[in-house]
Amino acid sequence: MADAFYDDATVQCPYPHYAALRANDPAHRLAGEDVYLVTRHADCEAVLAQPEVFSSKAGPGLRQRELMSTAKAPLDAGYRVVRTLLTNDPPSHTRYRKLVAKAFTARRIAGLEPKIRTVVDDLVDALPAEGRVDLVRDLAQPLPLIVIADFLGVPRSDLDVFQKWSDDAAEVLGGTLTEQRSRECHQSLQELLGYFDERIAERRLQPSDDFLGLLLEARAADERPLQTEEMLAISYVTLVAGNETTVNLLSSLLLLLLRHPDQLARIRTDRSLIPAAVEEALRLEAPVQGSVRLATRDTEVAGTPVPKGSRLLVVAGAANRDPAVFTEPDRFDLDRGNSRSHLSFGKGIHFCLGAALSRLEATVALEHLLDRVERIELDPAFQPRYADNAVLRSLLSLPVDVTKARA
Ligand code: HEM
Repeated sequence: MADAFYDDATVQCPYPHYAALRANDPAHRLAGEDVYLVTRHADCEAVLAQPEVFSSKAGPGLRQRELMSTAKAPLDAGYRVVRTLLTNDPPSHTRYRKLVAKAFTARRIAGLEPKIRTVVDDLVDALPAEGRVDLVRDLAQPLPLIVIADFLGVPRSDLDVFQKWSDDAAEVLGGTLTEQRSRECHQSLQELLGYFDERIAERRLQPSDDFLGLLLEARAADERPLQTEEMLAISYVTLVAGNETTVNLLSSLLLLLLRHPDQLARIRTDRSLIPAAVEEALRLEAPVQGSVRLATRDTEVAGTPVPKGSRLLVVAGAANRDPAVFTEPDRFDLDRGNSRSHLSFGKGIHFCLGAALSRLEATVALEHLLDRVERIELDPAFQPRYADNAVLRSLLSLPVDVTKARA
């Protein structure tokens, strides 16, 4: 029998379930699986701080282990995905991280702001002056995809196919894939890697200062340049890690504000509160509910023995509402002093490289939306629905009525 963790009611609103686990079974073993859910903030931090005991070489999303053998065939026939960042451990991870971090410096990210503003502006331009829009479809989904495509150096003309590859890649994470879908998603991955291979070949002939161009240039002192397959894996990981996650952040941020009109009104008069709102959205609705680790030896977590070879899901979504760290943890509170103690970007050696970029996107999107749209009202009958995925918290739609400000 599948664990209650996968029930639709839990996926739609996991927080009561997390609260019970945190209180009574903080390293809960999923029914029928060698997977433990770590739900207390302190335990999550402890697991993330010990990569030698809790390895990131844990394979793809939950419940995917049995599909690995079938999925391997097409992968072996084409491009290999070498371990670089998310699914890698030191010392190899350290080397890649040092190289890739050069593409995420504060200066480079801040330099993207004007571009992000233009993209948001275009998206708001496309909304009707008055009437019904879906803020997931019309804003939260397109913005991160366009930003990451620009970041990776993918032309706008390829956005549609890029969207499909990104969706398929996200589906592998945490969803329950049939064998057929698993094959399709891996086919999609092959196409994506082939596409990046061509873009890299172009940059060898014509250097550029985008992400791929930078990877080509990247060399750590006394180390070899990156091989093509390493650059492909890094590009793929950046896309997977950066797109859907930011879509989820934007969607949750907007939904939370629409459900707290008093807080939204405060932000309308004081835009300096926006970063606090973004942090609370990250805390309350972790866009990635958890990160997977593999126990490299017999160990224990929260007093529960965890045998070598078990996997763990470090549940940021649960840690972020731990009353031991956050008072009244379920409350959306712009004045909370420690929202940033959330674990939504992970912690330690794998801490999200794109954290500043996604915070910037969310801040700019909200600022601009409020500047240009004077009335946004949630459909009173709206019941949020999230994708059937225990790891990625993806709101499916956000129907609202808007009136744009006169230009
Ligand atoms: C709200 C948006 C985002 C969230 C919630 C998020 C979340 C995370 C988390 C939890 C991790 C650590 C995973 C682990 O420890 O196993 C991570 C790592 C990573 N993220 Fe993000 N991410 C977001 C946006 C982005 C963006 C926009 C990019 C790039 C453009 C990005 C690139 C990466 C990369 C490359 C890593 C791997 C770092 C490493 O392994 O050293 N992320 N992210």
